[in-house]
Amino acid sequence: MNIKGKVILSMLVVSTVIVVFWEYINSPEGSFLWIYHSKNPEIGDSSTQKGWWFPSWFNNGTHTYQEEDDMAKEKGRKKGQRKEDKEELQLWEWFNPERRPEVVTVTRWKAPVVWEGTFNRTILENYYAKQKITVGLTVFAIGRYIEHYLEEFITSANKYFMVGHKVIFYIMVDDVSKMPLIELGPLRSSKVFEVRPEKRWQDISMMRMKTIGEHILAHIQHEVDFLFCMDVDQVFQDNFGVETLGQSVAQLQAWWYRAYPHEFTYERRKESAAYIPFGLGDFYYHAAIFGGTPIQVLNITQECFKGILQDKKNDIEAEWHDESHLNKYFFLNKPSKILSPEYCWDYHIGLPSDIKIVRLSWQTKEYNLVRNNV
Ligand SMILES: *[C@@H]1O[C@H](CO)[C@@H](O)[C@H](O)[C@H]1NC(C)=O
Ligand SMILES: *[C@@H]1O[C@H](CO)[C@@H](O)[C@H](O)[C@H]1NC(C)=O
Ligand SMILES: *[C@@H]1O[C@H](CO)[C@@H](O)[C@H](O)[C@H]1NC(C)=O
Repeated sequence: MNIKGKVILSMLVVSTVIVVFWEYINSPEGSFLWIYHSKNPEIGDSSTQKGWWFPSWFNNGTHTYQEEDDMAKEKGRKKGQRKEDKEELQLWEWFNPERRPEVVTVTRWKAPVVWEGTFNRTILENYYAKQKITVGLTVFAIGRYIEHYLEEFITSANKYFMVGHKVIFYIMVDDVSKMPLIELGPLRSSKVFEVRPEKRWQDISMMRMKTIGEHILAHIQHEVDFLFCMDVDQVFQDNFGVETLGQSVAQLQAWWYRAYPHEFTYERRKESAAYIPFGLGDFYYHAAIFGGTPIQVLNITQECFKGILQDKKNDIEAEWHDESHLNKYFFLNKPSKILSPEYCWDYHIGLPSDIKIVRLSWQTKEYNLVRNNV
């Protein structure tokens, strides 16, 4: 081995030891299994100085944040409590709902629905580059989902997710030894955790809510400014960028974006915590993508998990499992931003003219191959 090789090898060994030690101290049980490809971003200390949307929640668990929509908030802030408010980006500066008159681009509660053509990426990029943000992405691959979907998901995310910004992939698998080796770009790192497998896929997807919440509390809240949670059986096809960032972000379900609320497959049994009566509701949201600031995502996952537990106690399971509970959550707590189905498209629908660009697409769902119980 030449000198260069030896230097690199010894640096690797030293950094691994440091990371192991650090991770051990910081993990809630000191027992997570993980793999770590690069240096931890220096988020922890600086998050409070970073500007208007990192208030003191990170250091104070007692804070009660009232959900407001982005527009209302921006109005409030215009009055100016802080100096850096001057640099704050206003919704109207980057978002033009009139560009897509044929689709819903603003909700009743004045949240933007982000479609191709409605946003100015240059302005957003300038803004977020100054903020030096880090974005997290959690993904679960249990059992055969690892070999079927994980590599393509991460490889495509590496290429298209938050290009030009720091990204941390949080990959939850039930068998770390099956983890594919994936080379990541310079601003990307990953942490792999081993989770206990559940037998039924319904339980896997419901336990996801609990696990994400635990990880946000244990470390993610100190590591990223925004967090997305995604299903693994999909592939990025084009840029999934900073226009998707917000306090709490929901994804329109591709099959239902033109349907009326009474048609949605919400949970309709009163006994379930996910119950939404006929006639109510705004959109049908897809659990394959949701996100926001870590503290908002924490609330989403905790509330959904509470609903799931309550249903278990009452011996009922919501029709679409965690997705029913997510829809209930966003029914009660309106998302501050909504992503058009361009962000999570199913080609089985075809390609209507509303869909200008497919940013993420569903994989063929080979349920008979990847699920133990179909
Ligand atoms: C959190 O905020 C509350 C209310 O502002 C305050 O009373 C409390 O002392 C704070 N706790 C910490 C740990 O900073
Ligand atoms: C968390 O969810 C609960 C229940 O829906 C809601 O009352 C509360 O306002 C939410 N908290 C935040 C910080 O959004
Ligand atoms: C985006 O904003 C910049 C700066 O205001 C402007 O020069 C550019 O033309 C805008 N792009 C689009 C597509 O509107």
